[in-house]
Amino acid sequence: MIERLQKFLARGGIASRRKAEQLISAGRVTVNSERITELGTKVDPARDLVAVDGKLVSAREEQQYYLLYKPSGCVTTLSDPEGRPTAAAYLATVRARVFPVGRLDYDAEGAVLFTTDGELANRLAHPRYGHQRVYLVKVKGTPEKEQLERMVAGLRLEDGAARALEAELHERTEKNTWIRITVGEGRFHLVKRLCEAVGLQVQRLFRPEFAGISVEGLRPGSFRPLEPDEVRSLQRMVAPAPNARLPRATPSGSRSLPKAARRHGHGPPPAPGATPVDAGGEAVPAKGAPSRKTGRGNGRRTGARSRPRPR
Ligand code: URA
Repeated sequence: MIERLQKFLARGGIASRRKAEQLISAGRVTVNSERITELGTKVDPARDLVAVDGKLVSAREEQQYYLLYKPSGCVTTLSDPEGRPTAAAYLATVRARVFPVGRLDYDAEGAVLFTTDGELANRLAHPRYGHQRVYLVKVKGTPEKEQLERMVAGLRLEDGAARALEAELHERTEKNTWIRITVGEGRFHLVKRLCEAVGLQVQRLFRPEFAGISVEGLRPGSFRPLEPDEVRSLQRMVAPAPNARLPRATPSGSRSLPKAARRHGHGPPPAPGATPVDAGGEAVPAKGAPSRKTGRGNGRRTGARSRPRPR
């Protein structure tokens, strides 16, 4: 992240920004051995060697937080032994070593938080902090009320008991139904397994938000840095004393399907002329694909697509 020299010095704990400006003006600061006296000078902390009175300064790294709208057709891990596309590739323009918090399946899409903040990531993953995960799941046909109720009542899966905190009808499509499922843990394939256990066939899995931070406004394959108040809300979420009342991770806005999910764009761009279809066989329009060359978003409004692959 390129930044002003005085800001870099302040972050490095050398002096306040104002004092740092005085150091620069006094000719006491060098960048790559060149004396700098101009206040607007920018430095790249990853490359430039900055010294004050001949002593190297290393800036304390600020934590970084990004929300990616993960398209389907990529793994959430940083690399994949099978060589499949990674969600991290969409953040290739981010210089910091960010990693994903939790996972979304290869064929799932939606919000994934990437950060340099290991402490926050560990806490968010911990069930103690009550971080709820909300999913919109497209299932075949029309589920019975009783099927949804069974998910909430609790089921026995192969790795133990599991339940949804909420399971509600969300929206009907011509042949299928979106249901909204909230779970309180990040167990492997949990939502799909809950659905399968009550006889529902999952066709798409979409996570509209992560810890209350919505992908609304992003397109599949694009990302954005979190706003400072979003970072603070995450920090508050994992900060309370064990007995304190835990915040709910779900704002009311997350009940609606973001437009991007309706549009159903995700993954690398389709071959020219191809008609993308979802796992339920419904054709979807192709829009806003990111550069095939880079395979990543530009940080805001790009999109990408692919056909979901059954897991
Ligand atoms: N549950 C699933 O089945 N898959 C995910 O990616 C996340 C939750």
